[in-house]
Amino acid sequence: MGSSLRKSFIAGNWKMHLTLSESAALAREVRGAASEAGPEVALCVPFTAIGVVKDAVQGGPVQVGGQDMHWEPQGAFTGEISARQLVDAGCKVVVIGHSERRRYFGDTDETVNKKLKAALGAGLLPIVCIGETLDERESQKTYRVLETQVKGAFSGFKPQDLSTTVIAYEPVWAIGTGKTATPAQAQDAHTFIRKLVARTVDEKLAARMRILYGGSVKADNIDSLMAEPDLDGALVGGESLKAANFVRIIQFKTQAGKERKA
Ligand code: 13P
Repeated sequence: MGSSLRKSFIAGNWKMHLTLSESAALAREVRGAASEAGPEVALCVPFTAIGVVKDAVQGGPVQVGGQDMHWEPQGAFTGEISARQLVDAGCKVVVIGHSERRRYFGDTDETVNKKLKAALGAGLLPIVCIGETLDERESQKTYRVLETQVKGAFSGFKPQDLSTTVIAYEPVWAIGTGKTATPAQAQDAHTFIRKLVARTVDEKLAARMRILYGGSVKADNIDSLMAEPDLDGALVGGESLKAANFVRIIQFKTQAGKERKA
């Protein structure tokens, strides 16, 4: 449930799904359910859908985001998109260093660091993804992995540079597997990450930094996850493609029967 210092944030990551007409329809439903009084909401969509989703959420509080970007402002990088181009297309948010990018497309802590710098330079709100694999968790390396990823991503930044940056803790073993981290497991990792940011970057920044959980978040587990004090929101994959389920997720309740207003 986070803290009053941190507004809750729910982002959908549509990954490589949906046609343009499906995208517009889903975005309209999300827009209809989102309110200024609720959590901040973003839809991180395929590059080709940015335009239609931007039009569909126009005038409402829902923000549009990209799922990746290149760190150079322009150039001969076939197939890539720059931060400037994302902004120009209507994005306010960008996901950086998702585990699928790290695993299949060669993202490293070093490229995540460069992308973060470029995203912030262009005025985008970055969601920096970190998280351990099952092997790493089972061999007690979770904290070590998270520490390397956070230090790598934030290397060379001053605390004030990172004031808008959001971290998403996404344990790889929980992504798309239906195996959600328990609220206690997620809270444990989030506390570790917050303390790490306090120790290695800045204490005040750490208290204000939003840390989202991602990995099999669903309508029926969001409330218990959001009840944890260091969970400030969620990055939602599969369930963000189903309008009714995603709407229930953004309308999470933190106490029995009571909707959270901020
Ligand atoms: P799932 O919610 O489908 O597990 O995906 C999580 C994710 O990778 C969000 O970025």
